[in-house]
Amino acid sequence: MDSLQLWTYQNIEVDDIVNYRIIEKNKSKIDVQKTIFNKIEHNLNFENGTHLSNLVHFQLAPKTPIQRWYPYREGFSINLVNSFLKELNITGNVFDPFVGSGTTLLSARNYNLNSFGTDVNPISILIAEVSNEVYFTKEIIDTKEILNEIINSNNQQSNIKTNFQLADKAFNTEILQTLLNLKIQINQIQNIKIQRLLFVAWLSIIEQVSNVKKEGNGIKYKNRKRTSSGYINIDKVVWENETFPKDKINYVKTIYKNKVELILNDIENHYGAIENKPQIFNTNCINFNEKFQDNLQFTFFSPPYCNSFDYFEIHKVELWLGDFVTTHDELKKLRIKGFRSNSNSLNGKKIEYKNDYIEELIGLFDEQKLWHKQIPNVVRGYFDDMYQLLKNIYLQTEKNGFVGIVVGNSAYSEIIIPTDAIIADFAKEIGFSLEKIYVTRHLTTSSQQKTALSKLNNYLRESIIILKK
Ligand SMILES: C[S@@+](CC[C@H](N)C(=O)[O-])C[C@H]1O[C@@H](n2cnc3c(N)ncnc32)[C@H](O)[C@@H]1O
Repeated sequence: MDSLQLWTYQNIEVDDIVNYRIIEKNKSKIDVQKTIFNKIEHNLNFENGTHLSNLVHFQLAPKTPIQRWYPYREGFSINLVNSFLKELNITGNVFDPFVGSGTTLLSARNYNLNSFGTDVNPISILIAEVSNEVYFTKEIIDTKEILNEIINSNNQQSNIKTNFQLADKAFNTEILQTLLNLKIQINQIQNIKIQRLLFVAWLSIIEQVSNVKKEGNGIKYKNRKRTSSGYINIDKVVWENETFPKDKINYVKTIYKNKVELILNDIENHYGAIENKPQIFNTNCINFNEKFQDNLQFTFFSPPYCNSFDYFEIHKVELWLGDFVTTHDELKKLRIKGFRSNSNSLNGKKIEYKNDYIEELIGLFDEQKLWHKQIPNVVRGYFDDMYQLLKNIYLQTEKNGFVGIVVGNSAYSEIIIPTDAIIADFAKEIGFSLEKIYVTRHLTTSSQQKTALSKLNNYLRESIIILKK
C-alpha cells in the first residue's frame, strides 16, 4: 500500500468503511450471479423484441372493444396474440392456462379457432365467459329495458349490509349503498345471461367509484397523497366531498349506465360471431388435462410472475363486494389454489422439481433483506408449478405445435431470478425446442435494490419465450 492509499484509507469514516465492505460483498454477489446467468443462458437464443413492448401490457385495452368491459390491469394486448396466431399460422386448438381477462381466448375466437382456458380467480372466469357468450337481438333489447328500470328505480334502501369489513373505509357511505342497491336489483334478474352481463358491468365500475385503487402490489387509498415531504392522509370526508359530486346516487348510476351502454355497443357493433365458444374451467391450470384431453396447437399465456404479486389481494374489493368470497377462510382457500408466486399461495405442496441454478440463486439471498421468510420456498414452489405445467402442456401439444410465454424476471434481496432463462432451459429438458426469447422491455425494481442491481440491469426484463414441440 503506498502512502497516498494509506492516507485515503485512514480518512474514510466508519460508515464509509461499512458501506465499502457492503459494496465489495455485493460486487462479489454480482459476479456470482453473472456466472450463474452465463451458465443458464449459454445455449439460449435471445432476440430483440422491443417492437412488442407496447403489447405485453394492458395500456391499449381501455380502447379495445370487449377487452374494455372490465379494467383488468394485468393482461396483455389482444394484438400480441393476434400477431403470433398469424405468424405461426395457427389453425388448431388454442389454450390459455391463465385466462385473466380472457385475451388469448378472445383472439382465438376472432380467428374462429377452438380454445380452452383455466383460471383460479372466479372473477376471471366470469369476465371471460360473459365476453364470449352469444347474445341474441331480443336479449340486447331486454337488457336495455332492464337497465332503464334499474336506473329509474327510486326504491333505494339505505342500510344494506356487506361482508366486506373494509367497506366503510373503501367507500363513501352513499356510494356504497347505491352499489349494493344495484347489486340486489341485478341479482333479481331472471335471465341468467342478462344478469351476468349486467353484473360484469357492475363489477367493472367498483374501483372507479371507490376510495381505493389498484397500485403496485396491492390496494392503496386514493386520499393518501404523496407530497415533497412524504405521504399525507387527507381526511376521508373532505376528500370525498372534493372528489365526488353532491348527488352520489346519480353519480354511480350514470357511470353504471354508461358502462352498460358501452358493453351493448360492443356487442352490437364489434362482437363478431362465436362459432367456437371457448371452454373455460375454474381450476388450477397445472392439472388442466383432467378437464379436457384435446390436442393443442398453440398455448399462449402470461403466468403470475415470481415477484410476490397476489392476484387475490389486488382484486379483493371486487371479490368481497361481489360476494365471490364471504369469509376470510374462503379467501384463504382461493389464495392457495393459485400458482406459488407469493407467500399467501404456499399450500404445503411438496417441491418435486429440483434445479441447481435456482438453489444457487436462493443461496445468495440475504435473509435480513427478505420481507418474508418464506420467499425461498415461493421461488422453489413457483418453478415446481411451472415445470409440472409445462410437462403437461408438452404431453398434450401436437407435433410442431407452439407455446408462447410472456414473463418478467424479478429480484429478491438484490438477487435476480432470471425466470425467462430458467423456464426456457427446463422446457428444453422437457422436450421442447426453443425457437427464441424475445426481450420486449426493461423492468424496474424497488428503489432499495436499484443501485445494487445497476450492473445487472440487462437481466431485469420482460420476455416472450417461444417453444416448439
Ligand atoms: C397475468 S394474469 C393473466 C392475464 C391474461 N393474459 C390477460 O390478458 O388478461 C395471470 C392469471 O393467472 C391466474 N392464476 C394464478 N394461478 C393460477 C393457477 N394455478 N391456475 C390457473 N390460473 C391461475 C390469476 O388468477 C390471473 O388471472
